[in-house]
Amino acid sequence: MNRISFSRLSLLSVLSLLLLAACSAPAPQVASTPGNSAGMGMGMGMASGMMERHRAQVPAPYAGLSSPVKADAESLTRGAAVFTANCATCHGDGGMGDGPAGVSLNPVPAAVAHTSQMMGDDYLFWRISEGGVPFTTAMPVWKEALTEQQRWDVINYVRALGRGDVKPGQAVGGAAYDPQAEAAQRAEVLAQSVAKGQITQAQADNFTIVHAALEDHMAASPHDSGSGNPAERQAAVLAELVQDGAITQAQADMFSKTHDLLHAAGLIE
Ligand code: HEC
Repeated sequence: MNRISFSRLSLLSVLSLLLLAACSAPAPQVASTPGNSAGMGMGMGMASGMMERHRAQVPAPYAGLSSPVKADAESLTRGAAVFTANCATCHGDGGMGDGPAGVSLNPVPAAVAHTSQMMGDDYLFWRISEGGVPFTTAMPVWKEALTEQQRWDVINYVRALGRGDVKPGQAVGGAAYDPQAEAAQRAEVLAQSVAKGQITQAQADNFTIVHAALEDHMAASPHDSGSGNPAERQAAVLAELVQDGAITQAQADMFSKTHDLLHAAGLIE
């Protein structure tokens, strides 16, 4: 299997959860549209790069906002309606970025159900309110079309989708987040990276261990709160894991280094 054959999902899975939220690689674009920002060695620093968006400082007046809307059943019901009417066409019923209207977009719609797990309230609210304007992407601006409550409701809903707490609607089709498939694909990508000499077996093993710790942590305390972009959230959660004794600082550092190597190898944007 060569790298073109990795699906977008499998690349997302390498970075799954934390890393995943901070960066990912829309692989199908590599094959179909050479020269776009997802291409090997071409993604860095380009305006459409997910890495750039995920490291962007949340601007005023959004910075530091936290959701005033509890993710209760009513909010999720309202959020489902907002999502189906406004978002599914691009992001897919399951919020994995595979809606019919998103196929031809560059960059493609984000797998928000998954990536939202590691995004601060303020980051999500900013990105939905102001859309792709700061980054010249096709993500629409929602601050006029949707009320503040509708935006918080849809944030609650996409996070619930990515945790499997709600079943996707059936408006346009699209995959649901599948943790088992993600894990299998992640293992495969790591094994191939080792086989190609891009990372060592020790780095791959450490990646798997730290990733499992991250998943445990998130299952125990879903990150519905907190602020900041995915890179900031990732650093914060890794630091928390070290502080809790779940992983060592050395493991956290090796995890970050492995990420950089995979990035350098073109496996992630
Ligand atoms: C016309 C297609 C389209 C529609 C409709 C759309 N989006 Fe997007 N969305 C995109 C694209 C493309 C991206 C990736 C580029 C970007 O992040 O600016 C994106 C990115 C995002 C992100 C940022 C995720 C990240 O990883 O940084 C969020 C959050 C998001 N969309 C939520 C929504 C919500 C909620 C709705 C409905 C209210 C919606 N989108 C409707 C195309 C769309």
